[in-house]
Amino acid sequence: MTADFNYTDALRRVSEEYLARNPRSMETSDRASAVLPGGTTRTTTFFAPFPPVLVAGQGSEIVDVDGNRRVDYLNNYTSLILGHAHPDVLERAMSVAGRGTAFSSPTEQEVLLAEVLVERVASVDQVRFTNSGTEATMAAMRLARAFTGRPVVARFEGAYHGTHDYTATPGAGIPDLIGDLMVTLPWNDIAGCEQRMAEVAGSLAAVIIEPVLGAGGVIAADHEFLAYLRESTSRMGALLIFDEIVTLRLHTGGAQAISGIRPDLTTFGKIIGGGFPIGGFGGREDVMALLHPTRGTIQWGGTFNGNPVSAAAGIETLEALTAPVIDELNRSGEELTERLDKALQSSGLPAGATGMGSLFNIHATGEEVTDHQAVRRADPELTELLHLGLMNRGYFLAPRGMGCLSTAMTSEQLDGLVDAVEDLVNSL
Ligand SMILES: Cc1ncc(COP(=O)(O)O)c(C=O)c1O
Repeated sequence: MTADFNYTDALRRVSEEYLARNPRSMETSDRASAVLPGGTTRTTTFFAPFPPVLVAGQGSEIVDVDGNRRVDYLNNYTSLILGHAHPDVLERAMSVAGRGTAFSSPTEQEVLLAEVLVERVASVDQVRFTNSGTEATMAAMRLARAFTGRPVVARFEGAYHGTHDYTATPGAGIPDLIGDLMVTLPWNDIAGCEQRMAEVAGSLAAVIIEPVLGAGGVIAADHEFLAYLRESTSRMGALLIFDEIVTLRLHTGGAQAISGIRPDLTTFGKIIGGGFPIGGFGGREDVMALLHPTRGTIQWGGTFNGNPVSAAAGIETLEALTAPVIDELNRSGEELTERLDKALQSSGLPAGATGMGSLFNIHATGEEVTDHQAVRRADPELTELLHLGLMNRGYFLAPRGMGCLSTAMTSEQLDGLVDAVEDLVNSL
């Protein structure tokens, strides 16, 4: 099969099978469309014709309204690292919830979760909690701007830091003025970054980076690249922010512990809430001091910030994630990525897989994927075909091909995904 193979017929067949397998999801999605634009509250997770409507999740499996069971390789976009409804996490969350779910004063749960993060993540002296990762990156940017007295924040091509104005791609509803305060840098390209950053050096407040580009294709930053960003931001008087909302799953101390690079600020989310809504940001004490309620200059509130139920679930989750548990999950993930890459490459289709530790991404391109531009050149029809084909075979991944492991997965389920990919590509 060649790169210009036409996938349209195959995609039609796979879509028809998807529709036939999901009649009640279709019905519910139609109903939802009357009250939710496009039938969803998350543009970022929607895919055509409609995502399955889920009713239950247990361990590594999810069940939809049609009774389809699928292995969940998405885990609410990497947040459920112990799988769904983990009994210890639920027990701790429920025992806290039974004593009240929200208060207008601090609770011990947020202190305990902050202590765990400060103990684990070497660059973090203090933290603040939010309700989402979006709020965490928004707050970290405001903090960097206040600390440096400068307006511009640099981010990377293909990066995802949430949906607030300062991270979204400039477009509808985002004034050009805001775009002027953002600079986009090329991934893993020291010379390209040096040039772009020099243009804004005097006004650069921070560089924000996911140590492994997540939504942009699961592509790890080179060690020398991170070292360069550390050196150049310090030289320019700007802060370095690591967005570890996804990558905290890769090491007890976050991806920064793997690279040995110490950012000034770090953002958190996903796994630190054990499946409940949360976000957080933390870092150097002198920077975080700006948030001090009486001596600081930044006001940052939130009715549900540091929610005790989310914090309790997060503490239980992080306690279960010892170094050996994470190492084993990463080892399984890397083996899976290698097997997926081999199965796809040997199929003759223009496809392969990238990954790091327990994160992976299937790409519908024959190119070596080293930056987001290669991801954008992937074949959209083949991407959709692989996604829906795997959904029909009982494997739930992101429409763009991203997946991750949870500790609830069995070796049969890991083998199963490789078998399903082989079966799917053979059927083409
Ligand atoms: C790296 C990264 N940063 C920030 C966010 C935003 O987090 P949330 O969806 O909790 O707002 C995400 C979400 O996927 C993410 O992957």
